[in-house]
Amino acid sequence: MGKKVLRITALICLLVFILTLQTGMVVAAPTAKLPNIKILATGGTIAGAGVSSTQTVGYKAAVTPVDALINNVPELKKIANVSGEQISQIASENMTNEIWLKLAKRVNELLSTDDVDGIVITHGTDTLEETAYFLNLVVKSRKPVVLVGAMRPATSMSADGPMNLYRAVVLAGSKEAIGKGVLVMLNDQISSARDVTKTNTSNLDTFRAPELGFLGYIQNETVSFYRQPTRKHTVDTEFDVMNLTELPRVDIVYGYANNTRVMLDAAVAAGAKGIVHAGTGNGSINVNVKPAIEDALKKGVVIVRSSRVGNGIVTRNGEFDDDKYNTVVSDTLNPQKARVLLMLALTKTTDPQEIQRMFWEY
Ligand code: DGL
Repeated sequence: MGKKVLRITALICLLVFILTLQTGMVVAAPTAKLPNIKILATGGTIAGAGVSSTQTVGYKAAVTPVDALINNVPELKKIANVSGEQISQIASENMTNEIWLKLAKRVNELLSTDDVDGIVITHGTDTLEETAYFLNLVVKSRKPVVLVGAMRPATSMSADGPMNLYRAVVLAGSKEAIGKGVLVMLNDQISSARDVTKTNTSNLDTFRAPELGFLGYIQNETVSFYRQPTRKHTVDTEFDVMNLTELPRVDIVYGYANNTRVMLDAAVAAGAKGIVHAGTGNGSINVNVKPAIEDALKKGVVIVRSSRVGNGIVTRNGEFDDDKYNTVVSDTLNPQKARVLLMLALTKTTDPQEIQRMFWEY
């Protein structure tokens, strides 16, 4: 009798075990700890909505809230513990210094805690490169900070936002991204905050560093870096915005044929503390503009020569006597990136030689 009871008991246990396995109720072996990723939303097309599935231009940006962005990608739960915060809800052509400072302070606050392993920032693509470079210079952590956007609204066929967001979370939770500075992730391509720029008004693969190239790629959940930034960033920078409530005014004036001094004079009259001149070619300045430069310098305005060309080094003392006029060259930074660095430089000094050092180092 005893043997029979034992046999029946063993059979029942086996059946229960098989049943629980099939229903998944058995606690599987503990999986590797998932990274804690905070998603900070600012707006843009990734949060945009159109009126039809074929509309990819002319839609409304900055509509979908951060929790909906996260819920639209349920796969995120398999790769990270994600939670979201709405920092702003704007089309990024309207980005402001106030939002930059709010974002920088929140990022530093979050990354200083042990329970945040990385941050993803969803952002409009128009000024994404500027915000990325600003954060590259003021975030005081080696943990990954990844900016992500989209070129099609979530309502469109083959929307790129959900996959871009998924890849950005993979990157932000990866060991490979630690210590690489602020990164930009769209279209499975990983770019550095310093060198990336938007190169096409509407194409999916718009973010590139045309000559300096991507840092790497993501395929599925595999992060592959082939290069890394060579200039100072994040924990190695001298800039600190945590106690700032505003940033110095810096304007950009554009160089072109038949140019005059009008726009540069207007920037000075508006109170610009620094001016980036987006010159022709190797940062050249039209002869009509030079007197305006001299007058601005006499008023203590710092002038940085950049180029509208978009690639290459702006040579010091090349097309302009920088030593004589005490002007600064932007190295390879395009005008909008040079403006970011000049704004931060002016929070530390107005000495053009010190500022030139910063343009060689960042
Ligand atoms: N208004 C543009 C912006 O918010 C839309 C472009 C985009 O986000 O892709 O940057």
